Amino acid sequence: MSIVEKAVEKLKNRQPEPPVSPAVEAAPAHSAPTIERLSGRTQAGDPPTEAAPPWHVDPVALERAGLLPAGDEANDRLADELRRIKQPLMDNAIGKGAKVLPHAGRIVVTSAVPGEGKSFTAMNLALSLAHEMDFDVLLVDGDIPKSHITRALGLEGHPGLMDVLVDERRQPAEVVVRTDVPNLLVVPVGRRHPLTTELFGSLRMEHVLEELGGRHLRRLVVFDSSPLLATPESQVLASHMGQVVMVVAAGCTGQHAVDSALQSLSDSQYVGLILNMSCLPASENYYNTYYGLYPRVHLAGEA
Ligand SMILES: Nc1ncnc2c1ncn2[C@@H]1O[C@H](COP(=O)(O)OP(=O)(O)OP(=O)(O)O)[C@@H](O)[C@H]1O
Ligand SMILES: [Mg+2]
Repeated sequence: MSIVEKAVEKLKNRQPEPPVSPAVEAAPAHSAPTIERLSGRTQAGDPPTEAAPPWHVDPVALERAGLLPAGDEANDRLADELRRIKQPLMDNAIGKGAKVLPHAGRIVVTSAVPGEGKSFTAMNLALSLAHEMDFDVLLVDGDIPKSHITRALGLEGHPGLMDVLVDERRQPAEVVVRTDVPNLLVVPVGRRHPLTTELFGSLRMEHVLEELGGRHLRRLVVFDSSPLLATPESQVLASHMGQVVMVVAAGCTGQHAVDSALQSLSDSQYVGLILNMSCLPASENYYNTYYGLYPRVHLAGEA
């Protein structure tokens, strides 16, 4: 059983579907359930309005899209690897890391060049973090051109990050989709915009990020992104983050590319390198992944 299936199973056992109150207008079947704006509730801390059932995260669709490992064995191994990867990220988020980081609850998964395993890692990291007792997780699809996670979840066409960046009248919480994986929320890409880099660099972006994550004490916001050396917007996106998970496809990505990507990041950020063997062909254990989290000094050759 995959991580998602286990989580969905857990939710089913724990929370039987509540009866829909006749006072609450049912949302149209095609729209994703979103978290209502805090100020729209009677009191801060009220549970979100249950206007529609949570969005179904379909493990089969995710596996087909290459965002979940195939088979129980690969799944179990990945779960263990992710436990090691997420621990320092969580420690940093609650201030138990080596140093106090600004915006430590914001984590971007990125890489130097395309195809190194960012979306796969972001998806599985978010699912793994959602198992934690003390956090909820908001997975944001920040790879605007590819929108891999948005498409794999069937959320294309839904309002998302770009919509709240463009339209200041919209509340960021309007585009947060509640899923049927306990503790997992998602923000899709939304409608693409030609000025993505400028929007990512705007004051509005900082406000949106604050609304999505900053107000929530135990929330981790995980971003998928495009590669640092391929698009300018990915560097701007990364600059808002407290923690950067940099995926390096072992044996595929040259050290020069990795060094250049690391140089685009700030010294005040925590940067963890994940060595991902995903570029090996199937005959060489394609799914036999190996993740390791390294301090950036090891690869960048700093003292
Ligand atoms: N650790 C892994 N285990 C199994 N498969 C993996 C792993 N990492 C990546 N893959 C596979 O490698 C392919 C590329 O991964 P992914 O789409 O996550 O890369 P990406 O860096 O997001 O690419 P892009 O830059 O195009 O967005 C996918 O088919 C994915 O299933
Ligand atoms: Mg991707």
